Amino acid sequence: MTINDELRKYGVVPVVVLDDSKDALPLAKALVDGGLPCAEVTFRTSAAKEAIHLIVEEYPDMLVGAGTVLNIEQAKDAINVGAKFIVSPGFDDDLVRYCKENNIPVFPGVVTPTEVMKALKYDLKVLKFFPAENYGGLATIKALSAPFNNIQFMPTGGINSKNIKDYLTNNKIIACGGSWMVKKELINEGKFDVIESLVKEAVSIVKEIRG
Ligand code: 3PG
Repeated sequence: MTINDELRKYGVVPVVVLDDSKDALPLAKALVDGGLPCAEVTFRTSAAKEAIHLIVEEYPDMLVGAGTVLNIEQAKDAINVGAKFIVSPGFDDDLVRYCKENNIPVFPGVVTPTEVMKALKYDLKVLKFFPAENYGGLATIKALSAPFNNIQFMPTGGINSKNIKDYLTNNKIIACGGSWMVKKELINEGKFDVIESLVKEAVSIVKEIRG
């Protein structure tokens, strides 16, 4: 299975911010037990690298990527500890070129036709659409899909257990990213049981919509 196949299968990518790497394994367990062995661990905190390392060691089959990757150094750090893909909030030529040259799956953020056209130059087929709700959500993705029929989108930003249903009905959407089931406060308070039930709810929504 390719990473893209896995993303489509899961339908949801939990976007995680870990302040402390000690929470990495309990969080990963909640995701695995909840039926969603997948995470984008954001490089917004200094714990990200160690967190990815710990998760990959303990759960080698989990689809763990690095998010909020802003430069090549962070991408190298993430890949060195086992991240399987790179996500960036916007489009950076140097970062995308580096990932393509090194066969690293990369999902840069776009919101405009111009940015999608930049991505086409690198033969990218899957793009993050961020911040999704602020930039018109599903309506904008539908409009972009008309000229860019071969692109699949991963909308992220403002997605929750309610509005995800509409996104998932559109077949140009490979998966939705979101933090609603892995909120930072829940992680910091150690509420991994709550996280697990929110993850289960997300999994059942994907099943309901996509079968
Ligand atoms: C991201 O990094 O992709 C977003 O912060 C996730 O957005 P959300 O918190 O609105 O789900």
